[in-house]
Amino acid sequence: MSASDGLTGISDQIGGAASEATAVPLLRVSGLSRNFYGVQAIQAADLEVRPGTITGLIGPNGAGKTTLFNCISGVIPPDAGRVIFDGEDITGWRPERISRRGMVRTFQIARGLPRLTVLENLLLYGIDQPGEHLGRLFLLPGAVATREAALTEQAIAIADKLRLTEVLNNRADAVSGGQKKLLEIGRALMTRPKLILLDEPIAGVNPSLAAEIADRLVRLREEEGLTFLIIEHDMDLIARLCDPVTVMANGRRLAEGSFDEITHNPDVQEAYLGSREWAS
Ligand SMILES: Nc1ncnc2c1ncn2[C@@H]1O[C@H](COP(=O)(O)OP(=O)(O)OP(=O)(O)O)[C@@H](O)[C@H]1O
Ligand SMILES: [Mg+2]
Repeated sequence: MSASDGLTGISDQIGGAASEATAVPLLRVSGLSRNFYGVQAIQAADLEVRPGTITGLIGPNGAGKTTLFNCISGVIPPDAGRVIFDGEDITGWRPERISRRGMVRTFQIARGLPRLTVLENLLLYGIDQPGEHLGRLFLLPGAVATREAALTEQAIAIADKLRLTEVLNNRADAVSGGQKKLLEIGRALMTRPKLILLDEPIAGVNPSLAAEIADRLVRLREEEGLTFLIIEHDMDLIARLCDPVTVMANGRRLAEGSFDEITHNPDVQEAYLGSREWAS
C-alpha cells in the first residue's frame, strides 16, 4: 500500500529516539529458541528495545516474528533463552503477570469479545477489573463502584485519544476494520503499560486510516512516554515510524539499525530476495 501522503510529516515528529540510544534497554531478549514439532520457529534470537523508541521488527513471512512475540509476552514458553524486561527476568511468566508488570501485546488477528461494546471491551482489560474478584463485590461494594467509575473514566479517555468516542457503545464486531485495530491498541492501553508489542497494527487497513493509526502511536509515545515494538510488513510505515529496525530471518536476528542502514545491508536484501513486500 502507499500511505506515503498521509504519513508525511510523522517522521519529523519522531526526533529524540537517537538521543536515548545509549539508555539501558527496557526489553532485552537473548538466545530465545522455540521448536514446534521439528520446526525451529526461533533459534537463539536476540533483540533489544530501548526506552522511548518505536522499534520495528521486520522479516519475511515465517521468519519467526510472531513466535518471538509469543515467547516474550508469555503466550508460549521458550525452549531456551531469557527475556529481561525493565530490569527483571520475566522468562516463562504468564501473560497476565507480564501485563501487570508493564508489557502488553496485541495480536496479528484482533481478539476481544465481538458481542460486547467497544466500551465493555476496554473495561475488560482494566487493571484489577472488579468482576475478576467476585468476593469483593460483597465485601466492599462501595470500593468496587468507585473503581469501576475510575476504569470507565480511563476507558473514555483512551477512546478519546484513539478517536473511538463515537463508537463506544457500538458492538465490537460492528465497527470498521481500522477501528478494530484501534480498539486492540486501546485494550492494551487499559493495562497502563510501559511497553506495547504490536503485531501488524495496520495490516488490512486503508491508507488514510493507517496514517491515522501511525499518528496515534507517535502521539502516545510523545504524550504518555510509551515505548513500542512493532511487527509490520508495510515498509512505508516502518521507514517513517521506526528507529531502530531489527530484521529477523530464519528464526534469528539478521541485522539491526536505522531503516536506511538495514535497507542497504546485503544480507537483508538477500533475505528478502523474491519477497513482494520489499519492492512495495
Ligand atoms: N503453533 C505453531 N505450531 C507449529 N508451527 C508453528 C506454530 N507457530 C509458528 N509456527 C511455525 O514457525 C515459523 C515462524 O512462524 P511465525 O508465525 O512466528 O512467523 P512470522 O515471522 O510471524 O510470519 P508472518 O510474517 O507470516 O506473520 C513458521 O514456519 C511457522 O509455520
Ligand atoms: Mg506473524
